[in-house]
Amino acid sequence: MLVRPRRSALYLPATNARALEKARTLSCDVVVLDLEDSIAPEAKAEARLAACEAVRAGGFGARELVVRINALDTPWGAADLGAVAGAQPDALLVPKLSDPEDLPAYAAALGGKTRLWGMIETCKAVLRLDALGAAAAANRMEGWILGLNDLAMEMGCRPGADRAPLQAAMSLAVTAARAHGLFVLDAVYNDFSDAEGLARECAQGVAFGFDGKSLIHPAQIAAANAAFSPDPEALAWARQVVRAFDAPESAGRGVIKVDGKMVERLHLEQAQRLIALSDAIAVREGSPE
Ligand code: COA
Ligand code: MG
Repeated sequence: MLVRPRRSALYLPATNARALEKARTLSCDVVVLDLEDSIAPEAKAEARLAACEAVRAGGFGARELVVRINALDTPWGAADLGAVAGAQPDALLVPKLSDPEDLPAYAAALGGKTRLWGMIETCKAVLRLDALGAAAAANRMEGWILGLNDLAMEMGCRPGADRAPLQAAMSLAVTAARAHGLFVLDAVYNDFSDAEGLARECAQGVAFGFDGKSLIHPAQIAAANAAFSPDPEALAWARQVVRAFDAPESAGRGVIKVDGKMVERLHLEQAQRLIALSDAIAVREGSPE
């Protein structure tokens, strides 16, 4: 079982050369070079060039390298798509994804190893999550990142610390992602100097079932990596479950007893996934930059 850790996905404006250099040494699992909202209209062409140059130059090690382009219904989308697809990052991130019908235009441009990722950040997307998920496999789509700043603005809601008005959308996004075999990452925490608030939001993201969190500042990486790594207790339990199912007396049984509790085959799969994730993290953290 191959599982890619995506505990921490760090955005940076593609025009920020210093941040780009730094990203090659940071312990985030994913680097997202942004051409969209963090780039002013007059800097779009420069950002596109810088992102493609960075992808071609490489040096990001085991980190997944992703470029967030402008949508095809903006003046920059077509040029972004052509250039970035040509540079072949690990993934191309489509902003404000709303209609499954829009996916083929992006997917058709991609080649090589490049997959499609989508931002879930519009009201329409939330209402069409199942259809978006169902269209994923035919369009190289691997997963989603939530954009809750945009969603909250469009909804006109005022999320507090518990993000109550957004929780329905968060939960639906996770549910739809799982239904279609996609990964899904929680949104950013804007106040990057508030470590306590970030830790709380990471814990909430873990509880909701997200695979990781999107980030805006290097100071946020350690908290996300810690929160979204399998915890030792869960891992010990997973190993116990796998051992129990491996035992000769469990052969052909769908349900067994481990430590006095009922365990079904569906728990076995979950346990194997957790062990695979933990192994992948160990390889990553042991590997040189
Ligand atoms: N990725 C990589 N490095 C980053 C970074 C990021 N997102 N944000 C900051 N850094 C680097 C800075 O270059 C600086 O490096 P240095 O000290 O080695 O020179 C160091 O981290 C400390 O940065 P700091 O001074 O605290 O922040 P800043 O004022 O330079 O930048 C932001 C603050 C918010 C402008 C910046 O973090 C940023 O652009 N974040 C991403 C925004 C984004 O992409 N938004 C779109 C998605 S929501
Ligand atoms: Mg957005």
